[in-house]
Amino acid sequence: MRRAFTRGFEDFINVPEKSEQAAVRHMKKHIEFLLNGSRVAVDADARIPLLYVLRDQLGLTGTRFGCGTERCGACMVLVEGKPEYSCAREVGSVAGKAIRTIEGLSGNGAPHPLQDAFVEEQAGQCGYCLPGILMSSLALLEKNLSPKRDEIQRALDPHLCRCGVHNRVVRAVQKAATAMRAARE
Ligand code: FES
Ligand code: FES
Repeated sequence: MRRAFTRGFEDFINVPEKSEQAAVRHMKKHIEFLLNGSRVAVDADARIPLLYVLRDQLGLTGTRFGCGTERCGACMVLVEGKPEYSCAREVGSVAGKAIRTIEGLSGNGAPHPLQDAFVEEQAGQCGYCLPGILMSSLALLEKNLSPKRDEIQRALDPHLCRCGVHNRVVRAVQKAATAMRAARE
C-alpha cells in the first residue's frame, strides 16, 4: 500500500497499488445489517471501518469522523444498543446486528426529547461532537431514565467537545430524562 493525501484530512486513505486492486475487489463481502430499523446490504471489504460505509456507501453523513483512533467519540453509533466507535468497528463485524445512527434518533418526523432539550439548553456551539454525544446519551437514557450528574458525566466521558459545552450538555440530558419520564406517566 502507498498512502496518499487526496482532498483533506478526512480523505487520508490507503490507495492500493494497481497490482493490489484486483485483490481488494476479491476481498469484498456482501454484508447485511439493520440500520435505524431498516435492513441494508453493502458490498464492502469486511475490514474497513463501519464509519466509512455509513458515510461513503450509505450516505449517512451525520456520524462524524474526528480522530479515527477511538479518542474523540465523534463517530459514536449504537451497536445492539451499546455505544461503539464506528471508526474502529470493522463493518464485517456488524453483520446481522442492529445499528443506530443520529439519522435514526427522531421517530416519525418528530424530534427526540434529547434533540428538543439540546436545542432548549443551547448545548452546542460548532456541533461537530453532537451526533456522537446524542447517541451515547440515548444509550444512557434507554437504560436509566433518572441518571445522576456523575452518571451522565461517566457515560459521556469518551466524548471530546472542543467548544466546552459540557455543562449545557449535562443539563440537556437531565432535561430530556425529565421529559421522557413525564411522557411515560
Ligand atoms: S473518530 Fe472515532 S473516536 Fe474519534
Ligand atoms: S460543540 Fe463544538 S466540539 Fe462540541
